[in-house]
Amino acid sequence: MKVVYLPSIIYFRGGRVRAMDYIVINGQKTLKGKVNISGAKNAAVAILPAALASDGVCVIDNLPQIEDVLGMIAAMRSMGVKCEFRDNHTLIVDAREINGQVLDERLTKKMRASYYFMGALLGRYKHAEVPLPGGCDLGLRPIDYHLKGFAALGATCIQEHGVVKLSAEKLTGANIYLDCPSVGATINIMMAAVFADGVTLIENAAKEPHVVDAASFLNKIGAKINGAGTSAIRITGVPSLRGGEYTVLPDPIEAGTYMIAAAITNGDVVVENIIPKHMDSVTAKLKEMGCTITEGGDWIHVCGNNHLRSCDIKTAFYPGFPTDLQPQMATLLCRAQGTSTITENVFEQRFRYIQEIKRLGAQIKVDGRMAVTKGACVFTGAEVTALDLRAGAALVIAGLCAKGETVIGGVSHLDRGYENFEEKFRSLGADIKRIKRDE
Ligand code: EPZ
Repeated sequence: MKVVYLPSIIYFRGGRVRAMDYIVINGQKTLKGKVNISGAKNAAVAILPAALASDGVCVIDNLPQIEDVLGMIAAMRSMGVKCEFRDNHTLIVDAREINGQVLDERLTKKMRASYYFMGALLGRYKHAEVPLPGGCDLGLRPIDYHLKGFAALGATCIQEHGVVKLSAEKLTGANIYLDCPSVGATINIMMAAVFADGVTLIENAAKEPHVVDAASFLNKIGAKINGAGTSAIRITGVPSLRGGEYTVLPDPIEAGTYMIAAAITNGDVVVENIIPKHMDSVTAKLKEMGCTITEGGDWIHVCGNNHLRSCDIKTAFYPGFPTDLQPQMATLLCRAQGTSTITENVFEQRFRYIQEIKRLGAQIKVDGRMAVTKGACVFTGAEVTALDLRAGAALVIAGLCAKGETVIGGVSHLDRGYENFEEKFRSLGADIKRIKRDE
């Protein structure tokens, strides 16, 4: 069977499949105005499965309308969980009766966050059958810390046919030390430990804002979790969780993406509905590069600069510079005056986007975990493809300042994590549109 690949259409001889949407940007427009930040993807995809562990009805507000959230909801519905949107961003979750603890791979293989169903189902039902997660290709991305944590709580775990099967007579609190402050393992183990007899201590825990948000939601519905946001989280087991209402925190990664877009277009943008404290590492780096930044209770005002200075970025666990803004920042640094280095310390393979950014003119070299750019790059529009979620964001940022037209394929990656991004960028003055073609 011969496959002909066109920029936005994939034909299989004798048949046709739905085309991939693509984005067209006419660059060099200065971004100006205000942009409202949506709920945090990585908090939402943890809070949804946590609601499944509740014996009551939960109302979750400020959910972003993004594919990963809709995917998690579809997986929950497949287990009989009643999920109804009260409005575009408010979901009512009723998991009082579900029809099983087995998830279908077709519903989980595109998302990394599907692993959270392990902790939620093991905790509440002492049984879970969850396919291995998918998500962005950033390297191996094992889940050994998660499984070691579940075993420490007393679960048995077998893996067959790509499915992780967990079961336990009962869960008993334990001291669990994480080899690295894994976000997913911290939240997943926390979700199971909520139902363990006695006290669980997670040491070397992740401190990201969405870890705190997941713990705050669980406490809102009856869990007893202390220390979230520090490297030692103490969970005292409870027999069950009640219902409750909760509002998801604003997305620091979406906010940082718009801050960097303002900087690269020499723009003047107020990023609204955020928690400025969560942006400290990004704010510090943009100031180091010469941007003018002021902040208020729930907003940050970014004014770009036509002569951005170079700087060095080293990604790290929170509160360090977030790996999820590394591709976007590297793109900005390609425009700065002078040589900059970007060191990726979280994932072993997070420079794949560079092959695409170079098609737009970036002069950047990768050597292991470090990329080096000599800066002063003049991006020119071309056809490129988003290889993962944040790689796609980097391409949009490059296209916004490129001369001429940039065509970005693989937009489905962006739809996983950025709500209405083309409308939000257009409201700031970008010349950006989505081309949909069902073939
Ligand atoms: C979460 O991924 C986020 N995803 C990622 O965001 C984010 O980049 C990452 O945390 C780091 O902040 C979600 O929350 C759904 P980790 P996760 O466990 O949980 C290794 C985005 O763009 N590790 O903190 O997978 C792992 O390989 C996405 O929004 C193990 O070795 O990240 C990595 O090198 C991308 N064994 C490091 O730890 C394990 O059992 C950190 O991973 C778990 C992790």
